[in-house]
Amino acid sequence: MHVLITGAAGGIGRVARRQLAGRYAVLRVLDRVELGPLGPGEEAVIADLADIAALEQAMAGIDCVVHLAGVAAEPESNAWPQVLAANIAGTHNVFEAARRAGVRRVVFASSHHAVGYHRRSQILTGAAVPRPDSYYGVSKVAGEALGRLYADKFGLSVVSLRIGVFRPRPLDIRHLSVWVSPRDMTELLRCSIEAPQLHYVVAYGMSANTRAIWDNREASVLGYRPVDNAEDYAAELLADGAPELEGAKPFHGGWYCAWDLGDHGLFID
Ligand SMILES: NC(=O)c1ccc[n+]([C@@H]2O[C@H](COP(=O)([O-])OP(=O)(O)OC[C@H]3O[C@@H](n4cnc5c(N)ncnc54)[C@H](O)[C@@H]3O)[C@@H](O)[C@H]2O)c1
Repeated sequence: MHVLITGAAGGIGRVARRQLAGRYAVLRVLDRVELGPLGPGEEAVIADLADIAALEQAMAGIDCVVHLAGVAAEPESNAWPQVLAANIAGTHNVFEAARRAGVRRVVFASSHHAVGYHRRSQILTGAAVPRPDSYYGVSKVAGEALGRLYADKFGLSVVSLRIGVFRPRPLDIRHLSVWVSPRDMTELLRCSIEAPQLHYVVAYGMSANTRAIWDNREASVLGYRPVDNAEDYAAELLADGAPELEGAKPFHGGWYCAWDLGDHGLFID
């Protein structure tokens, strides 16, 4: 297979490149910053998501695009212009370039912040309606919608991965539910790239966490069998008290729901 990863210089991209090294005949790696030393079969492309012609060129001969590039969190202030350009316009450019280049599948790095305002008392599946907790979350809802459009209208095969929290280890109490380990994240990407025929799938990016608050049956359909469990870190974490902001506690999105409230308070249904 010939695979292109956007955002390949970032945290998830670097780990995935290392762990997938040599697996694909071509692993084209794209970012707007330097990509570091190239692994076996890697071809580097420096391009910005704003440059649709460069994206189309980078996708020549590619079977699957893994789209990781973008603003990967809510910036502390003035978030909208950056999020709009990179995550919404940029993701449109990725899907449109994929269509023009005849790419078969796009794997889109969405986020659980697309559904962050759902209450933790509710277990979410991939069918949960959007409840974004930030402009960043709004951009992931838009990215998922673009994926759905390009699947339904143009027949692109699309996987949207609502990634939880990708870290070497869980760092707070919420992470015990939503953590995804580096090796499980790479395995989920591999399954999403290689799963046979599918139209449009939404799955969660999480490890086999005992305290899971997501029903990840759609990831199982992709063949994903996570091996790590945040619970292995629970005793150590809880010994510290693992404090959490009061306003963060009820919601899947955690502290994204609890900051920048101004005078408006929490929106509670
Ligand atoms: N890390 C997590 O816990 C997590 C959780 C949920 C979702 N995600 C999503 O997964 C993806 C990857 O996350 P990450 O942690 O590796 O992020 P990261 O910030 O480490 O990497 C993102 C990469 O995208 C590149 N990029 C940004 N804007 C670009 C542009 N306009 N053109 C080209 N390249 C651009 C950056 O240079 C960077 O290398 C993101 O889309 C993020 O929203 C990550």
